[in-house]
Amino acid sequence: MSPGRNPDAVIELTHIGKSYYIGRQQEVPVLTDINLTVMKGEFVSIMGPSGAGKSTLMNILGCLDRPTKGSYKLDGSEVANLSDDKLAYTRNRKIGFVFQSFNLLPRLSAADNVILPMIYGNVYKSDRRKRAVEILTHLGLGERVDHMPNELSGGQRQRVAIARALVNDPAIIMADEPTGNLDSKSTTDVMEIFSELYQSGKTIILVTHELDVAGYATRHVILSDGHISKDVRGPLP
Ligand SMILES: Nc1ncnc2c1ncn2[C@@H]1O[C@H](COP(=O)(O)OP(=O)(O)OP(=O)(O)O)[C@@H](O)[C@H]1O
Ligand SMILES: [Mg+2]
Repeated sequence: MSPGRNPDAVIELTHIGKSYYIGRQQEVPVLTDINLTVMKGEFVSIMGPSGAGKSTLMNILGCLDRPTKGSYKLDGSEVANLSDDKLAYTRNRKIGFVFQSFNLLPRLSAADNVILPMIYGNVYKSDRRKRAVEILTHLGLGERVDHMPNELSGGQRQRVAIARALVNDPAIIMADEPTGNLDSKSTTDVMEIFSELYQSGKTIILVTHELDVAGYATRHVILSDGHISKDVRGPLP
């Protein structure tokens, strides 16, 4: 552990910046000087206008992309400059990521989509299907394990995607507008799952446009124009 590190911090972003480049010359700064520490067991919502940089930030947090400057410590280890392979390894071990558009593989059944991350994890082959069925059943999809994604409703697909995110038992769950494509009943179902995960001690970070979704979180970060303009703990301001 590095000196001065807060042992309860799971995520420490210091002076994080992200720019895209158009051609060789033109820099488009998207995130500027993001400083954010997330403690173990927090439930954080990230809100802000379209184009503010929320997805860019989530992709960095979720080890799907790297910052162009600054430091990102995940569980005390620097990940800002890891190679693609090491980044993918870290992501698979520590983070479950849920996307707005589910990102299920269309030719695999619900169970096989959930089995996929276990192939790169450390679950014995003979245990994989059992574990996938268990977790799908827990999320109310026991009758649907052998359905293909196009045979499932949006809410059911998102629950499969959540099962896939949880199957390697990551300590951190991240989600970018997980209810963005769902009706209000499915939104409530999905948010009840996130609440239960929070109660069980997981750290959760989620981007949303919806106030009632953000209301489930216990800390609220507002991103405007690539920087954090507000960061409050407790109920929604
Ligand atoms: N690959 C890229 N190349 C160039 N610019 C990009 C790229 N990806 C994102 N951007 C720009 O970065 C800015 C932030 O995008 P981002 O997707 O992070 O916003 P967001 O806050 O998630 O918005 P939304 O609420 O609409 O999802 C936008 O202006 C976008 O055009
Ligand atoms: Mg976005």
